[in-house]
Amino acid sequence: MTSKSDAIAIEMRGITKRFPGTIANQAIDFTVRAGEIHALLGENGAGKTTLMNILCGLYAPDLGEIRLFGQSVQFRSPKAAIRAGIGMVHQHFMLVESFTVAENIVLGTTRSLMREPPQRLHTRIQGLADQYGLKLDPAAKVWQLSVGEQQRIEILKALYHNARILILDEPTAVLTPQEAEDLSATLRSLSAQGTTIIFISHKLKEVMSLCDRVTVLRDGQTVGTVVIKDCTEKALAQMMVGREVDLSRKSQRSSKATTPALTLKDVWVMGDRSLPALRGINLTVHAGEILGIAGVDGNGQRELEEAIVGLRTVQGEIKLDGKLAHIPSDRYSMGLLTEFSIAENFVLKDIQHPPFSWKGLLRPQLIFKNAIDLIQRFLIRTPSPNVPAGKLSGGNAQKVVFARELSRDHQVLLAAQPTRGLDIGATEFVHSQLIARRDAGTAVLLISTELDEVMRLSDRIAVLYEGKIVEVLDVAQANLDRLGLLMAGRNHA
Ligand SMILES: Nc1ncnc2c1ncn2[C@@H]1O[C@H](COP(=O)(O)OP(=O)(O)OP(=O)(O)O)[C@@H](O)[C@H]1O
Ligand SMILES: [Mg+2]
Repeated sequence: MTSKSDAIAIEMRGITKRFPGTIANQAIDFTVRAGEIHALLGENGAGKTTLMNILCGLYAPDLGEIRLFGQSVQFRSPKAAIRAGIGMVHQHFMLVESFTVAENIVLGTTRSLMREPPQRLHTRIQGLADQYGLKLDPAAKVWQLSVGEQQRIEILKALYHNARILILDEPTAVLTPQEAEDLSATLRSLSAQGTTIIFISHKLKEVMSLCDRVTVLRDGQTVGTVVIKDCTEKALAQMMVGREVDLSRKSQRSSKATTPALTLKDVWVMGDRSLPALRGINLTVHAGEILGIAGVDGNGQRELEEAIVGLRTVQGEIKLDGKLAHIPSDRYSMGLLTEFSIAENFVLKDIQHPPFSWKGLLRPQLIFKNAIDLIQRFLIRTPSPNVPAGKLSGGNAQKVVFARELSRDHQVLLAAQPTRGLDIGATEFVHSQLIARRDAGTAVLLISTELDEVMRLSDRIAVLYEGKIVEVLDVAQANLDRLGLLMAGRNHA
């Protein structure tokens, strides 16, 4: 195919992995050439993460064989896989929140943390970060960082451990478009130097522009492997979903919305680094409209979200008319209790009220019935409502939060990165649900770093830059160039 070597880096043959009630991988064959960037595609729950967890030593397969550069291998632990040169950047971060960036990166290496003075460690890690063009502050504590920044730590950590094979499980889901482009450049240069890269993503454009070949999984089985340059985005979508998907449709409200449902007046909020993260926000979301917040991640989106749901001290005024539903950007710390079942997660916020409890007693049958209903309506892939939420695939966990929030009574919906991690079919579904809510009179505040999504769904677009709303546009006046300039802080173009 390309100028790259035809040596085989990884050969997985007949890989089968069962979980209670689910065959996550069923006799999967997967071959990756040395130095190529190979995409792994498939719908939510198709088995991508499971296959890669097997490759990186986290799970043992029930059946099947793995060869690494021609040698048969059996990893008994992630450590063994790391020693063999396999680095995985997981879909959900595995960082120690109270540690610094630098400490997280060197964690698990023989060099003692205790013996290296922090200053020197920071300089060393800064050098590495600069080398790969990954913007990071080595001294910052993980809990202070945005998800995008946390993702960069994971990437740098794998590179620090000399990965010959780098697996990235939806690395760009949490990155801004600019960051995603930077990452692409990093990956291209790593690949040119011989690193083999496996890249999981739901973003077909990105797969088309970055990858050499792609393997598609569906329902735990291999659909096929194709060369990217012989392929189209449409064909890939069809291979994944088994039908045509259309995300181009745009739907605007029929008349102007005028009744305020959520109002922010001169809102100031401090950020984690003791600087104001929101600086005098004025914003009104009306019943029956979708107001989209556009902006590069890190300009106050997280603080805005947390201020509205009451997680941050606010100066100024936030006025909410009616009840709020919230799809949080950080599903795992704000949305789900991973040890609890799917059914329990659905009623988490309503457990003390009828119908789910009555005179202080829970009503398990109703809770179960509610779960069956939501699982069907929101197409959540699981063998049973009793499965702990933490066992779901990334996208299906996301659907649980979405289903719970939409099924509760609400007049205002705060949707933060609502389609992050969702496959194209599920994204289409979520978009249609948001539009249906809006049409039914809900005020929707959409915070999304996907500019395409903001453009497609919003009636009005507010651009957030350095903690300020720099402009509010009707979608008719908005175009990508204008928004891009505003998002970069260039107001007078
Ligand atoms: N530890 C586990 N215990 C039980 N079931 C699991 C476990 N891990 C995965 N599964 C199930 O295996 C199936 C495949 O999940 P996997 O995470 O591999 O999907 P995925 O392709 O990565 O999806 P997504 O795009 O949503 O991340 C799902 O039905 C999931 O619920
Ligand atoms: Mg996954």
